Amino acid sequence: MQQSFLNLPNIVNIASVPHRSPFRYPGGKTWLVPRIREWLMSLPQRPKEFIEPFAGGGIIALTVAFENLADHVTMIELDNQVAAVWKVILSDDALWLADQIESFNLSYEEVYHFLNQPAKELKTQALQTIIKNRVNRGGILANGAGMIKKGENGKGLSSRWYPQTLKKRIIDIYAIRNKITFIEADGLKILEKQLDRNDIAVFIDPPYTISSKKAGSRLYNHSTIDHEKLFKVASSMACQFLMTYDLAEEVLSLAKLNNLDTKCIAMKNTHHAKMNELLVSKALNWIQS
Ligand SMILES: C[S@@+](CC[C@H](N)C(=O)[O-])C[C@H]1O[C@@H](n2cnc3c(N)ncnc32)[C@H](O)[C@@H]1O
Repeated sequence: MQQSFLNLPNIVNIASVPHRSPFRYPGGKTWLVPRIREWLMSLPQRPKEFIEPFAGGGIIALTVAFENLADHVTMIELDNQVAAVWKVILSDDALWLADQIESFNLSYEEVYHFLNQPAKELKTQALQTIIKNRVNRGGILANGAGMIKKGENGKGLSSRWYPQTLKKRIIDIYAIRNKITFIEADGLKILEKQLDRNDIAVFIDPPYTISSKKAGSRLYNHSTIDHEKLFKVASSMACQFLMTYDLAEEVLSLAKLNNLDTKCIAMKNTHHAKMNELLVSKALNWIQS
């Protein structure tokens, strides 16, 4: 087991990464996109399948699909609100969703009324999720999350509402839907069924709830993970995997226990504060600098 710190001369500027997700996702990994490309390109074989068991806003899975870095991409997510969005975007209701976003009148009254009506159809639930994700502070979809009040530049509720951009992202994903499978399930259970496969690559980004800070617990409706089991399953998979975690003693101990390599990587969070996160894998010697 090695543990080292990366001193990156430049923290990834996320403006340089194509934004493909319709979500603004708490704990989203846009900043990791360049590393994911580096990792997948370093593998001896192109993966037959790229699996993301805690997909959330799916920026990594989408990047792999759009940039053709694996034959097929599978996204797994347990939150039914998030799942509704992925299911609808990968179905023929995607165009309905895109049109509804374009024509939605984002006033407090409309939003309040729309979000409080029961969604009878999956496509309505998907639209509710997209709107909630745009009007809630930090994009948080967990129960009890509050709405934006002042927003950026005093623009209030609509400060994160870019209907044309969202419409385009949805249509673009729909266009490559054959490359992507979405499964609403427990990601850990799906990983347990992949232990012998060596033709896949897996990116694991669970809620950060292992350390005493439990940063992930207020961000998601599903945040209870058996981290010990996750480390055990990951380290017994025949394939290559990359895992991200917060930099915490508990994570370093689990990595050591499972004979995994760790590297600390600098990133900027949504408030532009510099933070350190951990990469965990069987080997991290593919990292160039
Ligand atoms: C850190 S976020 C993933 C963020 C994602 N990598 C991105 O860039 O948007 C963790 C996600 O795991 C989901 N989750 C929690 N428990 C899960 C489980 N057992 N199976 C699948 N997804 C789960 C949460 O709902 C949340 O969306």
